[in-house]
Amino acid sequence: MEQNLVLTGFMGTGKTSVGKAIAERLGRTFIDTDVWIEKRAGKPVSAIFAEDGEDRFRAYEVEACEALSAPCNQVIATGGWTLGPEKNRAALQRGGCVICLRAEPDTILARLSGATDRPLLASDDRAAKMRTLLNQRDPVYRSFAWQVDTTRMNVAEAMMQVMALWGAIRHLDQPASMWLPMRERGGTSILFGAGLVDAIGPILRARGLSGRVALVSDSNVASLHGDRVARSLELVGFEPALLCIPAGEESKTLESVAGLFESFVGAGLERGDLVVALGGGVIGDLAGFAAATYLRGVRWVCVPTSLLAMVDASIGGKVGVDLPAGKNLAGAFHPSLMTIGDPDLLHTLPGVEFRSGLAEVIKAGVIADPELFEMIEHGSGDLSEMIRRALRVKVEVVIEDPFEAGRRAALNLGHTIGHGIEAASKFALRHGEAIGIGLIAEAKIAERLGLAQPGLSDRIEAVIAKVDLPTRYHDLDLETIMTLLQSDKKKKGGRIKFALPRSVGDVLIGVDVKDELVVEALNAVRE
Ligand SMILES: NC(=O)c1ccc[n+]([C@@H]2O[C@H](COP(=O)([O-])OP(=O)(O)OC[C@H]3O[C@@H](n4cnc5c(N)ncnc54)[C@H](O)[C@@H]3O)[C@@H](O)[C@H]2O)c1
Ligand SMILES: [Zn+2]
Repeated sequence: MEQNLVLTGFMGTGKTSVGKAIAERLGRTFIDTDVWIEKRAGKPVSAIFAEDGEDRFRAYEVEACEALSAPCNQVIATGGWTLGPEKNRAALQRGGCVICLRAEPDTILARLSGATDRPLLASDDRAAKMRTLLNQRDPVYRSFAWQVDTTRMNVAEAMMQVMALWGAIRHLDQPASMWLPMRERGGTSILFGAGLVDAIGPILRARGLSGRVALVSDSNVASLHGDRVARSLELVGFEPALLCIPAGEESKTLESVAGLFESFVGAGLERGDLVVALGGGVIGDLAGFAAATYLRGVRWVCVPTSLLAMVDASIGGKVGVDLPAGKNLAGAFHPSLMTIGDPDLLHTLPGVEFRSGLAEVIKAGVIADPELFEMIEHGSGDLSEMIRRALRVKVEVVIEDPFEAGRRAALNLGHTIGHGIEAASKFALRHGEAIGIGLIAEAKIAERLGLAQPGLSDRIEAVIAKVDLPTRYHDLDLETIMTLLQSDKKKKGGRIKFALPRSVGDVLIGVDVKDELVVEALNAVRE
């Protein structure tokens, strides 16, 4: 039996009408969970709510999801909150592909005007009730991997978009999907899974995007993966212009931004159009910053291609460029609309870059995920699973503190000392190589301060060594490292604040550390 197509989403997004249209087109059976429940209960949904209460109705929904969890060639439309509970979602995903339909509040209101069969909207002020309900549920709707925004679509168009999306993703495993809200800056919908890169066009189109795309990449990545992405975009009517920047940190400059602006103008990029960054952290930071400032901000989508970018740089909204005076000195918070990560892209990543990214994965483990750390420690982890976990750590920290007012400093673990070492090496050491050494040195400081049990730094060192990252620096002047460390921009009120590990999975932020201790730790990680 073929898998089901399951349409979910808030009331008024078109689940039933689009579902029926698709079922008819494909000659499949259409099932509405509300109708299933009415048959089962022997009375209308409104009567279940009135006589038995909402809890009873929700219990019927659990039954319905179980009953409809086998692949049966059906098109299923759920109730608005049927897939709120995780177990219902899991049940329907067992036998089908779940697509969440979305629409803007005004559109929903217009579509629902006159409807009298919505018990949850029974109120004098339906508009206010609807908005409150939608706000409450929005994070869950946003967390679905597959979404179609039907705001500006009639039923026939929505049907086409749902079918195009389904066609592009039905053979893929369910990707990891997260929603990272960034308050007034909107937020990022994050997808991570194998095969996504070839479905980018339909995924973005289904989210209501269309028009011109400035596809920004670097000289290494463009030739390897640029065409694939451009093709997927063209397939659904986007008009991509591939813009290629020389690979390397040297390109993360205002001059490159100016060059991109010129190309954007040349490509006719307008306010409603899109920038897509396809590359490592350099391209994400650069193209994201250009998107933040071009026409006072256009939307952008990040497609990270390096391990470091997948687990770190592509998440959290920070974009920017380097100035002659230092790295990342000009920037903005401009979250990508979506970040779409595909581990298949890593097959072409040079080994040294891959290992450098692993330092950030290890860092994520030390910050908040002991199991992730153990996977690397025991060599037992699957790469995709490790990336998913590292991603989740970053997302959870950023959700707590989107604009770096506090907790986000935890992400600096290993970086206070790491940045000093990286800069002292004049960037001969890769970022991740320096961060690995920084993680060890900072764990030694934590032990000396009595924050961590002795042995933590040895454990971290063993993991760094296991992935073939250096555990010591050599040929660097300690004085120089100290000077660079003290000029680090994270310095606050004249003193450097450290994020230090208390154990694997637990980090303390804002710790004052005396210079003597830093020197001692730096001596301990010198070859
Ligand atoms: N915005 C943030 O929150 C944030 C966080 C961390 C780091 N960063 C920034 O990220 C940058 C470092 O990122 P990076 O390490 O990805 O550097 P990068 O973008 O320079 O990529 C590293 C190298 O790998 C190549 N490459 C990337 N993906 C490839 C692929 N799939 N196949 C073959 N080659 C590939 C690139 O061409 C480059 O030569 C720094 O500028 C740093 O400041 C930003
Ligand atoms: Zn880093």
